[in-house]
Amino acid sequence: MVRPERGGEVGAVLVTEAVIGRRVAELGASVTEDYAGKDLVLVGVLSGGAVFTADLARSVNLPLELDWIAVSSYGDGSSSSGRVRLVKDVEADLAGRHVLVVDDILDTGVTLAWLLEHFRARRPASLHACVLLRKPEAVLEPVRPRYVGLDIEPVFVAGYGIDYAGRYRNLRSVHKVLLPEDG
Ligand code: IMP
Ligand code: MG
Repeated sequence: MVRPERGGEVGAVLVTEAVIGRRVAELGASVTEDYAGKDLVLVGVLSGGAVFTADLARSVNLPLELDWIAVSSYGDGSSSSGRVRLVKDVEADLAGRHVLVVDDILDTGVTLAWLLEHFRARRPASLHACVLLRKPEAVLEPVRPRYVGLDIEPVFVAGYGIDYAGRYRNLRSVHKVLLPEDG
């Protein structure tokens, strides 16, 4: 996937705050049901997954532990490098525990595949993923998240934790990013 160069701006709303709120509540209810009685560790993927993870965690009615991992998958280039670099690892001991990785977007699946491999080595009792948004390219990589918020078109987006050139993470809705050539 090609990442837009600096110079674009945030455009129309693609997923409204209300729709996000409803899906987060539904996902939280599913997680609550699926992990009842289990030692659940939610691992949020920084930075894009931070806002979603914070909201999802509060929609789950279980005594979960919340931890964070930071990876960089694009480097400084303008297109996906296809490489993942560990920036900050989790602090919790994951052995024998039920781990749910929470990220913003599943695009090519390279990032999530790397994360699942990374956590599998910690010998968790179970390992699943939850993504807010899934783009069509995700079908190319055999990564199957247990929970998906919404399937979206293959456009570059920003807002609700997701950045464009480092900005717009604080928007409450998910917006399309308008490239300069789009007018
Ligand atoms: P993947 O490795 O191709 O699946 O890329 C997933 C990661 O790329 C996500 O966690 C995001 O951080 C980033 N990403 C993918 N699509 C977008 C987008 O439209 N806007 C901002 N970041 C994106
Ligand atoms: Mg990310």
